Amino acid sequence: MFSEIENIFARFKGGFEMNLIYKKVEEKDKQQLFNLIDIVLSNLENQEYFIPYEEWELKSMFDEKNYAYLYGAYDQDKLVGMAQLYISQDMLADFKREFHLENDKVCELGGNLVLPQYRGNGITTKLQAMELNLAKELGFDYVISMAHPDNIGSQKTLEKVGLKFVKETRLSNGFLRKLYVLKLK
Ligand SMILES: CC(C)(COP(=O)(O)OP(=O)(O)OC[C@H]1O[C@@H](n2cnc3c(N)ncnc32)[C@H](O)[C@@H]1OP(=O)(O)O)[C@@H](O)C(=O)NCCC(=O)NCCS
Repeated sequence: MFSEIENIFARFKGGFEMNLIYKKVEEKDKQQLFNLIDIVLSNLENQEYFIPYEEWELKSMFDEKNYAYLYGAYDQDKLVGMAQLYISQDMLADFKREFHLENDKVCELGGNLVLPQYRGNGITTKLQAMELNLAKELGFDYVISMAHPDNIGSQKTLEKVGLKFVKETRLSNGFLRKLYVLKLK
């Protein structure tokens, strides 16, 4: 699955300087993006950790106007992590109700996927901090996010960038989630 070199790297990563580049993912990296999604989602510790992408979402990965902004972490030219800022108010309607924010302009942090051998290096924390800056620039009132109660990594990254735990609930789509929110205005 992973090359021998990557496995060796993973074992010794504590001793290496991580020199990563953080930027928007461009369409030219579409294949790398789908490979990253495939690798992470097929190796999830628990399938409940990630609400699967719908077909239209996979087709809209680069649609910033109607779906989400997409940031990536690169090790040289290799895409090793991603994060999305979902902005579609239609898509977020159910979640906005869940947070009692029906009348506010809300965006959501999600799509946090990092290759296993690159985890624990602050990649998601950095990408989410970039997304929060963007959310403020775009004039959103609130940023929300959700994490499975057992997904400690996901919860910690949200807390590190300042989101606050609201409650644990079962969403209308059946997924159990801890809800997090940050007021931007
Ligand atoms: C969850 C995930 C995105 C975190 O990405 P990451 O880049 O490794 O996170 P960071 O390095 O920014 O971690 C931030 C903090 O969380 C901690 N953390 C991360 N993963 C952890 C884990 N599994 N258990 C405990 N703590 C964890 C880190 O140690 C760090 O804390 P520190 O600064 O006090 O050391 C990554 O583990 C992943 O891709 N998981 C599979 C997909 C998934 O579940 N995505 C979330 C749903 S959207």
